[in-house]
Amino acid sequence: MNIMSREYELKADPSTLVSSSQSSSSTTINRRQFLKYGFNTATGVLGASLGVLGFASILLPPGGGTSGDLGVIYWAKGREDEAWYGAKHEQPMTRTDFVNEAAKSNTGTAGAAGIWNGVPVVVTYVDHTEYKDTPVFNGKARFQFMEGYDETGKRIGHFEDLSDVDPRIFPSDNLVMIFGRCTHLCCIPGWQLVSNSYTDDSWTPGGGDEGGTKLFCICHSSRFDPTALEMNSNRNRSSGATFNYAGVRRAGGPAPVGLPLIPIQLNGDVIEGITDYIDWYTYCD
Ligand code: FES
Repeated sequence: MNIMSREYELKADPSTLVSSSQSSSSTTINRRQFLKYGFNTATGVLGASLGVLGFASILLPPGGGTSGDLGVIYWAKGREDEAWYGAKHEQPMTRTDFVNEAAKSNTGTAGAAGIWNGVPVVVTYVDHTEYKDTPVFNGKARFQFMEGYDETGKRIGHFEDLSDVDPRIFPSDNLVMIFGRCTHLCCIPGWQLVSNSYTDDSWTPGGGDEGGTKLFCICHSSRFDPTALEMNSNRNRSSGATFNYAGVRRAGGPAPVGLPLIPIQLNGDVIEGITDYIDWYTYCD
């Protein structure tokens, strides 16, 4: 069984191979942290499944399964004592938990790593309803619906071009769920696995690289803004087929494009994913 080798088959990003000892050291530490915190079991499940089935096959087909199959669970393995949801490891994610946690933050946000259908996800709550009509300079996060661009900088379209067709793509109850595999080299960024200026409790509008509350990929330091929602474009690595998707914006680092959303619905208080956009999640396939 070669789950471990699959799990950490991380190719060095040439652009990050700088000679400063600080950069080198931080990369090493980050990868150790990844080993410690990086969803070992989830990645093992994912890697093992990929070998036989291909990634898309481990997702439920549209409309398939029971409502319980669509539920998201918290994933805090190795971080049970640090993450705010550590005591809820492997329990269903609920909206109420996020509302309560966001109320403790400066920015009105809360995020957590989870597992949905065997794949890693990050769910982020943004108190959009509370702050959307307040001045954007006050540091209170709200969703921003934006134009999106492909990796060449060509405009693809606006987030609302997609959400107008299927309103379920729009954030549901102030929540978004993000597919948790980096568009750079397919690491699993998790949520706030390290503390730095990109992950602190601050927020700057515009979808740029300033401020905190970013989804930070510890492998090569890519940053994504979970509040900046856009249309984007990517491709299936095996077939080469390209597809547009609704996602969160890449704010910085070597990742070429943003991460796709998984539209959600609430089953009572429990967060569930909608399986209608499987193609969006095949770029690591
Ligand atoms: S895999 Fe390289 S930055 Fe995420």
